[in-house]
Amino acid sequence: MPERILITGGAGFIGSHLARRLLRDGNVVRALDSLVEQVHGGCRRPAYLEDDVELVVGDVRDREAVDQALREIDVVVHLAARVGVGQSMYEVADYASANTHGTGVLLQAMMKRPPRKLVVASSMSIYGEGLYRDVGGRVRPGTERSREQLEGARWELQDEDGRTLEPIPTAEWKPPALASQYALGKFDQERMCLLFGSAYSVPTVALRLFNVYGPDQALSNPYTGVLAIFAARLLNGRPPLIFEDGEQRRDFVSVADVAHGCALAIAHDGADGQALNIGSGSRTTVAEIARRLAAILDGRGCEPVITGKYRFGDVRHCFADVGAAQRLLGYAPAVELEAGMLELARWLEGRVSEDRVEAAAAELAAHGLTI
Ligand SMILES: NC(=O)c1ccc[n+]([C@@H]2O[C@H](COP(=O)([O-])OP(=O)(O)OC[C@H]3O[C@@H](n4cnc5c(N)ncnc54)[C@H](O)[C@@H]3O)[C@@H](O)[C@H]2O)c1
Repeated sequence: MPERILITGGAGFIGSHLARRLLRDGNVVRALDSLVEQVHGGCRRPAYLEDDVELVVGDVRDREAVDQALREIDVVVHLAARVGVGQSMYEVADYASANTHGTGVLLQAMMKRPPRKLVVASSMSIYGEGLYRDVGGRVRPGTERSREQLEGARWELQDEDGRTLEPIPTAEWKPPALASQYALGKFDQERMCLLFGSAYSVPTVALRLFNVYGPDQALSNPYTGVLAIFAARLLNGRPPLIFEDGEQRRDFVSVADVAHGCALAIAHDGADGQALNIGSGSRTTVAEIARRLAAILDGRGCEPVITGKYRFGDVRHCFADVGAAQRLLGYAPAVELEAGMLELARWLEGRVSEDRVEAAAAELAAHGLTI
């Protein structure tokens, strides 16, 4: 049965893909989006947003705009957020306001007429470091790297005797280790929505998204989306800049799979009241992804530069255990990395983009956030 679905942040990268998916399933979709300059350039309705999406231009902190956007809505998907991890460390007030306060305004507005379902985008960033196993086979949540270790460029996590720990897929039970203002805000969003859901009997699901990639990710935003950042460099004939030694492992998940996971969370009740990982379930090093992207964008194939620098708050390895999403929602990632990257490359073909990566890196350094 078709539903009326509001996506906050619906003009953004994930929101627009989700909107297309939900329209295809026969729903009516409205987006509430303030068209943040850093993401959207001239603050215009993005061309990639389906014509059938009703766009309410407004801020999630603005109660009037939120009330207007919520009118006659059955389902709310809350994606609106400032999304730069490094940037959140110096634009603290704005991140807290948009992400935490904004969620509060949305929840209060929903009390009047609670939706049938609420889905909120959380993030793998709340985990900090992923899970590790030591040589004796014991799982070690909560191990971190010391500043001294990082200054000595000893990148891998170690046990007390200096033996390297083995990274393993991170499951939802891992306690959060919030290493940035962004991560703290995402955890706020997740917990606030789940609390709201249990207090007001609104079936609510938080999706902890891993590294999402795909067409339409803002190339203009140098603060988020590692593949988009690398692409912006390559399109300008410059090599991707990689922190540490490039061997850090991540879980790159196609935006199509994320939209699918979100659609499942809307349609099914198996995950209500829970926070679930949505990833690809596989792991790739950052250097590998940079090399593959460079190779795919042939002609511009620049070798990535390994900077040996460390960014405050970065983790060494984190990739998803998607078992719970599989069990509770029937989620199964369908897009292989190779196919997803080819689709990304097709979208990148012929695109121009200003490379703001060095300016963003300089800003981090000026705030003492890189070593
Ligand atoms: N892309 C990823 O890899 C990833 C990973 C984990 C979690 N997430 C989460 O998924 C969600 C969507 O991310 P995305 O990658 O599509 O980012 P995006 O920047 O493309 O989209 C976010 C959208 O929210 C809008 N927005 C920001 N602040 C707003 C406000 N105060 N009021 C109204 N609209 C506002 C922006 O204009 C933008 O269109 C975010 O909550 C993000 O934290 C993304």
